[in-house]
Amino acid sequence: MDRLRIIGGRRLEGSVRIAGAKNAALPVLAACLLSPEPVTLTNIPRVSDVETMLGVLRTYGVRIERPRPDMLVINAADLAALDTPWDVVRKMRATVLVLGPLLARFGKARVSLPGGCAIGARPVDLHLKALSALGASIRVEGGTIIADAPEGLRGGRIVFGSPSVGATETALMAATLAHGETEIINPAREPEIIDLVECLQAMGADIEGAGTHRLVVRGPTRFRAASHEVLPDRIEAGTYAIAAAITGGFLELTGARLEHIASVAEALERAGARVWPGDRGLIVQGDGRAKAVDITTEPYPGFPTDLQAQFMALMAVADGASVLRETVFENRFMHVPELVRLGADVRLQGTTAFVRGVPALKGAQVMATDLRASVSLVLAGLVAEGETIVNRVYHLDRGYEEIDVKLRRCGADIERIAG
Ligand code: EPZ
Repeated sequence: MDRLRIIGGRRLEGSVRIAGAKNAALPVLAACLLSPEPVTLTNIPRVSDVETMLGVLRTYGVRIERPRPDMLVINAADLAALDTPWDVVRKMRATVLVLGPLLARFGKARVSLPGGCAIGARPVDLHLKALSALGASIRVEGGTIIADAPEGLRGGRIVFGSPSVGATETALMAATLAHGETEIINPAREPEIIDLVECLQAMGADIEGAGTHRLVVRGPTRFRAASHEVLPDRIEAGTYAIAAAITGGFLELTGARLEHIASVAEALERAGARVWPGDRGLIVQGDGRAKAVDITTEPYPGFPTDLQAQFMALMAVADGASVLRETVFENRFMHVPELVRLGADVRLQGTTAFVRGVPALKGAQVMATDLRASVSLVLAGLVAEGETIVNRVYHLDRGYEEIDVKLRRCGADIERIAG
C-alpha cells in the first residue's frame, strides 16, 4: 500500500487546478442508467471512486467510452444484469445511488445494503422511504434491498425530516420516470444536488426548485442525448484553501467558486487568512499563525462536514483554543487520535472536539482511516517538524486527484512511496 512521506515546514505558493467534484460525478453517473440515450460528461475527476462507479455500471452492460481522461460517454441503451452484488457495494456506499434509476427504469432492482463505514452507520432508510412514496414495494432480505414497482413508479410527495444528500438524489432520479408530479420537501441543497438537477434537465427532465426547500419533478421523462460538465469540487478547493492557511502560503485555486465554500472562506477569514475571487478562481493568502476559530458543521450552506477534519488540522496549530462541533455524522473524529500522535491537543466529548493550538506539531507515522481524515493528516504533515509518513494512501486517492503532485508543484516536500 502506498504511503506519503512529507517533510514539514514549507510555505505553499502557486496555482492548483481544482478537479470536477467527486460527489457530483457519482450521482450523475448513476443517473445515466435512467436513459437509453448517450450522455457525455466532462470535467470528470480522475479519482478511484469514479473508477469504482464505472465498474458498477459495467456490471449492467453499460457501454463506456473515454475520449479524454476527464471525459466520459455513457451509453445505457441495452442493459443485461440488474443485480448489484455486495462485493461491489461494500467498496463504496455511493453505489446505493443506482437503486433509484434501476427501479424507475426497469420496475425492479436488487442492490446490496451498503455497510456502515468509518464515519458512522450511514443507513439508507431515507432512500427507501422516498422510493416507497413513489409507489415502490421495498423489502430487505439477507442484506439485499429488493425493490419492485411492476406498474412503474407514480408521482408522490416526499418529505425529508432532515436533509440527506444521497436520499435527495435517489428521490430526484426516480421521480424523473414516475408517472405524474412529484414534490420533494426539505431536499438537500448542496451544489452537487443542483449539478445533478442540471444534468437531468439536459437529459430532458422537467424539474423546478433546485436549491430551494421544495423540488417539483414532472414525469415520465422522454430522455434525449445530452452533455453535462461536472461542477468543480468545493471540498478539494476548501482543502487547498486550508493548506494555504496552515502553511502561511499563497495559492490560486483555478476553477474554484467562492459561493460554493462561502462558509469555509468566512471561517478562514476569522482565522486570519484572506480569501478572494481571482480571474481564474479563488485566491487564498495565509497570514502567519492562524487564530483559533469555533465551527459547527451543518448541511449546505453551513460549514461542510467534509472539511471538518481539515479545519481541525489548522486549529491544532492555531493561537488559542477552539471548539469544533460535528452535527452531520455521529463518528467523524477518526483523525483525532492520529493528529494527537503528531502532538495535537484535542479532547473529544461526544460529537464535539475541544482543540488547544500548539506552537508546533512533530512528524510521526500516522494511519489514514477515511478520505477526509487522511487529508487532514497530510495538512498537519505539511507543518509538522521533521518527517511525517501517512499510511494507507488509497483512502486519499478515492477523492483527491494526484494530491502529492499538486502539493509538490506548490513547494511542498512530499513524495509518494509505492509499497
Ligand atoms: C454525501 O453522503 C457525501 N457523499 C458525503 O461525502 C458527505 O459527507 C455527505 O453527503 C454530507 O454532506 C457523496 O455525495 C458520495 P447524507 P451521504 O445522506 O449522501 C444520515 C466524502 O467525504 N442518513 O447527507 O451518505 C447519515 O447517516 C463523503 O466525500 C440517514 O440517517 O450523506 C448522516 O448522518 C463522506 N438515512 C446524515 O443523514 C439515510 O437514508 C447525512 O447523510 C441517509 C442518510
